[in-house]
Amino acid sequence: MSTSQILYDYTPKMKAKARAYWYWNWNWNSRARFGLRAVFLFCFLFFIAGFLSSSRRSEWVSGVRRRTERQLDSMEYDLMGHGKTGDDSISVIPFQVISWRPRAFYFPKFATPEQCQHIINMAKSNLEPSKLALRKGESEHKRQNVRTSMGTFLSVSQDSTGVLDAIEEKIAKATKLPRTHYEAFNVLRYELGQKYDSHLDAFPSEIYGPQKSQRVATFLVYLSDVEVGGETAFPYENGLNMDGSYDFKKCIGLKVKPRMGDGFLFYSLFPNNTIDPTSLHGSCPVIKGAKWVVTKWIRDQNFL
Ligand SMILES: *[C@@H]1O[C@H](CO)[C@@H](O)[C@H](O)[C@H]1NC(C)=O
Repeated sequence: MSTSQILYDYTPKMKAKARAYWYWNWNWNSRARFGLRAVFLFCFLFFIAGFLSSSRRSEWVSGVRRRTERQLDSMEYDLMGHGKTGDDSISVIPFQVISWRPRAFYFPKFATPEQCQHIINMAKSNLEPSKLALRKGESEHKRQNVRTSMGTFLSVSQDSTGVLDAIEEKIAKATKLPRTHYEAFNVLRYELGQKYDSHLDAFPSEIYGPQKSQRVATFLVYLSDVEVGGETAFPYENGLNMDGSYDFKKCIGLKVKPRMGDGFLFYSLFPNNTIDPTSLHGSCPVIKGAKWVVTKWIRDQNFL
């Protein structure tokens, strides 16, 4: 018996049932197919939506992170209301403690190469042999060979470009000592063999007599690299060589190598205002190249 025959032989009721079954079956199949398609489409849309939202979200997340970082900045450094002479911003000046005996601090990349070159150019035409603060009853002639550099003084008002002003302001922030206590900049050039024997920047009254004010600290900015030599040396660092045998012409002890743009700060006085003997220092002879340095002496009284 063929299938058609069976169908043929079916009663109308049975035919109707079969049609209904067939219809249901077709319906189910098509529904299932539609369902599969729908599921596929849904998954696809979900995937696309997920993909888009994930990239959007990472954007959003990084936006939030960016915002959070900005917020952290202002949260970490929540600014205070400031006084008339204060700042409305935060200063960060990286430094390394070089020594506590003497108190000496190194400020890498304190000035830019352009600033260094600018200061050299300003000083170049006015160099004269550097002088010494003379001791009681001493003649200039007698100490001729102690300090052999050439130098000149430059004040902030001489520089209309604002470079010296910017450097001085940065020194004030680094030292936390006010600019009214500053001497003018002293630019020095040491050429081959030139040096400065070990000395104190402060003036012991027993040697120099009573002073109007005392030097508290010295801030150096090295304006050039020096190939060999030219270090700033502290022979008494941490109490070394202090037994009275030290030859002041000798370049020994803790040595700081000049590097263009780097700043270097040391204190000549203890916190109790007496002179720190370990602040004794010199400039080692330049063996190769030339050394340019600018010095800022800071006083314990208004200097201007
Ligand atoms: C000042 O301080 C230094 C270092 O702390 C100390 O050695 C010295 O005795 C003090 N001098 C006076 C007079 O207090």
